[in-house]
Amino acid sequence: TWTAANMAEELVEQVREQIGEGRAICGLSGGVDSSVAAAMVQKAIGDRLTCVFVDHGLLRAGEAEQVKEDFVAATGVDLVVVDASQQFLDALAGQSDPETKRKIIGREFIRVFEQAARDIVGAESSSEHPVEFLVQGTLYPDVVESGGGTGAANIKSHHNVGGLPDDLQFTLVEPLRSLFKDEVRQVGLELGVPEAIVWRQPFPGPGLGIRIIGEVTAERLEILRAADLIAREELTAAGLDRDIWQCPVVLLADVRSVGVQGDGRTYGHPIVLRPVSSEDAMTADWTRLPYDVLAKISNRITNEVADVNRVVLDVTSKPPGTIEWE
Ligand code: XMP
Repeated sequence: TWTAANMAEELVEQVREQIGEGRAICGLSGGVDSSVAAAMVQKAIGDRLTCVFVDHGLLRAGEAEQVKEDFVAATGVDLVVVDASQQFLDALAGQSDPETKRKIIGREFIRVFEQAARDIVGAESSSEHPVEFLVQGTLYPDVVESGGGTGAANIKSHHNVGGLPDDLQFTLVEPLRSLFKDEVRQVGLELGVPEAIVWRQPFPGPGLGIRIIGEVTAERLEILRAADLIAREELTAAGLDRDIWQCPVVLLADVRSVGVQGDGRTYGHPIVLRPVSSEDAMTADWTRLPYDVLAKISNRITNEVADVNRVVLDVTSKPPGTIEWE
């Protein structure tokens, strides 16, 4: 019979066999998947694992802090923080095609990991053993939707699956590859991952980079980050966090519409709210949020975020829409 305890034990054993005496790094995003993968590998190989938190500048407000405070405090894992925001912004400059953006982000992640792996070894004069394994929190739906499953179409390149460069220097360790999100959560609780992380709503690895429709720039990121924070604050205040699967907030950066604020005409951008209900992200329905909550979010975003004069609600299920817009 399937129990989270059995599954955790079995997967830890598999990781131990795969990595042997080797060393690994794990990109930690603060999300459920990478946190559970990291906890599992730490259990398997202890301090031969180093976690790397990449600040790619595409994070939401408060995310770096959460990783440090919640995850590191609970697991004592060895964490390296890399500020790579300028590197990612430069690489994304001028790009607006969704798949191109995803591939660039995937490639830059790997570059950061490669550099981090060299730095880790260089810092320990006693140890010359290279870091050859890269841990990723890839789940079964990611594999399927990136075209890795049997007979599946390539819907989008999840940065941790289809978006990897061909000349990857690492051997991948993907202990969650056969699991769905609810199973990952149960296994995570079994491994002692804090509840604040286990019950977090999914957030994609490419972050806000795929929630700006159009080119990613520092100014646009600032707008989206502010709008996203307001939506999250109001959903939490209304006690709705566990009722929705996630609520992407999307900036239509190349669209403008006319509005009126104060006594002046505005010509600003729309923000899209995309609240969804789902069991496993493979299919989803739009969440019927209470109108007063939607009104509050809309009022606050248009009042508090410069350059946004309209908030729209996405009422599309998956399929035909995907959860994220890119
Ligand atoms: P879609 O947009 O494909 O999203 O319906 C399904 C789920 O996956 C998340 N998502 C990602 N997660 N790397 C991730 O780790 C990615 O590249 C990625 N793209 C989408 C999305 O937020 C949703 O939960």
